[in-house]
Amino acid sequence: MLEADLLLKLMQSRRDVRGNSFLDKRIEKEKLEMILKAGISAPSVGYSQPWKFIVIDNERVKNEIHENFAIENEKAKQIFEKSELYKNLKLEGIKEAPLNIAVLYEDSNEDILGMTSMSSMGEYSVVCAVENMWLMARSLNIGLGWVSILDEQKILKSIKAPKNHKLIAYLCLGYVDGFKDEPELKTLRWKEEKKLNECVEYIC
Ligand SMILES: Cc1cc2nc3c(=O)[nH]c(=O)nc-3n(C[C@H](O)[C@H](O)[C@H](O)COP(=O)(O)O)c2cc1C
Repeated sequence: MLEADLLLKLMQSRRDVRGNSFLDKRIEKEKLEMILKAGISAPSVGYSQPWKFIVIDNERVKNEIHENFAIENEKAKQIFEKSELYKNLKLEGIKEAPLNIAVLYEDSNEDILGMTSMSSMGEYSVVCAVENMWLMARSLNIGLGWVSILDEQKILKSIKAPKNHKLIAYLCLGYVDGFKDEPELKTLRWKEEKKLNECVEYIC
């Protein structure tokens, strides 16, 4: 198989993994390091490398983060018309996943090449790191889920984040017994899949 085919297959088989899928098996140190190395291999605006990874393997902190999620998720339940379906969704795996990683953006005071006109580019660089980690985890058969139904300021306090840092992603990682063939939100008809021609326009 061509490398490009393999890469596309890996991307297409990456899934968001939630709590009901994690196995009670620890992630080996070398595998965790590969995932973190994938993160720091990402492109970054002006080569600013504005990321910081806080690896959380502590029940007390996880419980605190989970309480944070539960409060925010109660608020979210009021928002959606499809509230019955929403209520039944499992949208995190904070306690079930053996490891959690908070991915932060460091907002420096320096002028950054490439960020002089568009100030969000530093944060987008950290998102690139997250996608690299997600793909590396998938290649190692490790599931990863992104949780964003959280109060950012409380999270930063819970993890004792350094000053001038923002939360970009809260990730739950662990081995799984398998990966779903398609996004769960597609299977549950929460949203329809967009086809390529709906997403692309050409200016010739
Ligand atoms: C920025 C971002 C935030 C997300 N936040 C959540 C979340 O809070 N809870 C959740 O269950 N999934 C979350 N997801 C996962 C998406 O629901 C998932 O990527 C999407 O449904 C497509 O499924 P797939 O990743 O399995 O292909 C998030 C994904 C992204 C990119």
